[in-house]
Amino acid sequence: MADFHITDCIRKTKEGIPLTTEEIRSLVRGVTDNSIHKYQLSAWLMAVCLRGMTDRETIDLTLAMRDSGDVLSWDLDAPVTDKHSTGGIGDKTTLILAPIAAACGVYMPKMSGRGLGFTGGTIDKLESIPGFCTELTEQKFRETVSKVGFAVCRQTANLAPADKKLYALRDVTETVDSIPLICASIMSKKLATGTDHILLDVKVGSGAFMKNDANAKELARLMRIAAEHDHRSCTAVLTDMDRPLGFCVGNALEVQEAISVLAGDLDSVLGQFCITLAAELLTMAGVCDAASAAARAEQAIRSGEALERLRRMIEAQGGDPHVTEHPDLLKLSPCSRVLKAPADGYIAVMQSEEIGRASVLLGAGRMAADEEIDFGAGIRLHVTRGDAVRAGEPLMTMYAAKESQLDEAEAVLRSAVRITPDAPAPQPLIHSIEK
Ligand code: URA
Repeated sequence: MADFHITDCIRKTKEGIPLTTEEIRSLVRGVTDNSIHKYQLSAWLMAVCLRGMTDRETIDLTLAMRDSGDVLSWDLDAPVTDKHSTGGIGDKTTLILAPIAAACGVYMPKMSGRGLGFTGGTIDKLESIPGFCTELTEQKFRETVSKVGFAVCRQTANLAPADKKLYALRDVTETVDSIPLICASIMSKKLATGTDHILLDVKVGSGAFMKNDANAKELARLMRIAAEHDHRSCTAVLTDMDRPLGFCVGNALEVQEAISVLAGDLDSVLGQFCITLAAELLTMAGVCDAASAAARAEQAIRSGEALERLRRMIEAQGGDPHVTEHPDLLKLSPCSRVLKAPADGYIAVMQSEEIGRASVLLGAGRMAADEEIDFGAGIRLHVTRGDAVRAGEPLMTMYAAKESQLDEAEAVLRSAVRITPDAPAPQPLIHSIEK
């Protein structure tokens, strides 16, 4: 094997010369065993950001990062699936989709992350349930998946450890927004989880990493070829993040909203969106044909089986299972304030990034990884983009621990909503499905 020098990698990437597979493997080994200086890795990351990588380099990086730690495998009697969202505001789809999948006979072992910055994370949402434990041993994780059909836990320390180290550097060197690096980061973890079928929800818009369709499509294309290279099937759904998903933003609030969909609120935009995602998942996993998949997913809700799966998962992971029947057991923060429409008109803009920022100010999110969050804080929206409103009607209700947090968030939320005299052009929630 030729001698490895990180400076050669930095120079080659800087000059647009592709690294060899062996160079990429050595680089990832050096990240994992801490033998490469962080300042040199930072320089290489910046070179990738500015010059990009070829598809082959991106796949090599993804697979080397996958192999930097444990790679799970599953021996179950039905298809094993996974779902990943690139991160958005009000995105509680995992809490709805995983129980539907389990009720329809496919497994979903789900490793999730915490929220950081203005986007939320499934782990925080679930921890708003009293007693719920997200740190599972591998044995407990496997047992819950096998008995209930799904489980949700934090990523274990040894799942793609190279990603953890690289992500921590990217976070502080302005090198997060590189499509090949995002692909390698997400897909190394997904492939290490060892599932056969992966559904990707690639968010596009103001509240997402990908601000436009062209970039979102490119990220989806790369993630799909990385999955196919590893013999997994993969469908990517490009979805709108110019507005929050559903009507609740904040941890306890989002669990409440997910429960209301599982309890039968199928006509809502969120309900229909989750049925579409579930139909894609069930079709990809081969348990339904495309024509019957949506009806099968709806049946899982109407029969109560999906809600029952959520109840069983919460119970198995130590949480209070009564929340599925009594969502008000999830306590909201004590201070609240309603924001009212300043004029008659239509909601033309409901800027999700600003709404996400306001939710952090209310205490529902964190700007640094070690910050505490207030599970009961957040925003309940009463209207959505396109709705007609009259002056004085409620637009949203904020919840926080302190009045001063409401004051700060109110200023941000006022600029997040624009009311116009004419109705805005409709904007579809699903931009495209890539399969
Ligand atoms: N989510 C990840 O896990 N990694 C990224 O790089 C971006 C989003």
